[in-house]
Amino acid sequence: MLVADDYEAMSGAAAELVAGQLREKPDSVFLVPTGTTPLGMYRRLAAMHREEGVSFARATFFNLDEYLGLPADHPASYHAYMEENFYSRVDVDTARVHVPRGAAPEPEAECERYEAAIRDAGGADLCVLGIGRNGHIGFNEPGAPLSSRTRVVRLSESTREVNAVDFEGGLAPESAITVGMTTILESRTALLLASGANKAAAVAAAIDGKVSEAVPASALRRHGRATFIIERVAAWRLTRNTGV
Ligand code: GLP
Repeated sequence: MLVADDYEAMSGAAAELVAGQLREKPDSVFLVPTGTTPLGMYRRLAAMHREEGVSFARATFFNLDEYLGLPADHPASYHAYMEENFYSRVDVDTARVHVPRGAAPEPEAECERYEAAIRDAGGADLCVLGIGRNGHIGFNEPGAPLSSRTRVVRLSESTREVNAVDFEGGLAPESAITVGMTTILESRTALLLASGANKAAAVAAAIDGKVSEAVPASALRRHGRATFIIERVAAWRLTRNTGV
């Protein structure tokens, strides 16, 4: 675990880790998050591309999740987020960029297709994650089975309220498609980022609490090759160093 002094330090360390993965294996497969937390990391990666020639052209990207029912061109969709904050700013090969299709006519079939695409790509080399205030990762809400794969999930009321800021006049959608816990845990390496004082309780539960399905992020402690980069203001409730 690394406690970063501030948001910029967290973002820089995360971007270095992603760039290091690319240096080692240019055709790496990534699972990638949305949210406010990784924005600084994406900004750094875009700067590394512009200024240092870091290339993403051979890499494959799978987003962790998408709201059910939202078309790709909806401004609050994770398609739109990724395009605006990352994919349009670097040299990704659009054929190797994947986001679950939230508006797919048959969501269950979309989930199976998505899971198969990750498998066919050889699984993820690095899974980058944020953490929800209730400990969720991707959209695996508290109670998500460790055995879960990509599937349709109902969002908790608290998550819908927190994410309402992205939606004009109302809560976030009721459901989403998310990559599952098993899919995340099968990634060869994982990186969880947490920023902001409002994540302190979730961070403490994930790192100091019991490993349990009630706190999905805690499962990463069983992974073996998971790194936690926590901004200092999000780390203040940690009471012991669990060695993660
Ligand atoms: C969202 C996403 C998660 C993200 C989390 C935290 O609901 N589905 O993948 O990690 O919430 O978001 P933020 O970084 O904005 O706090």
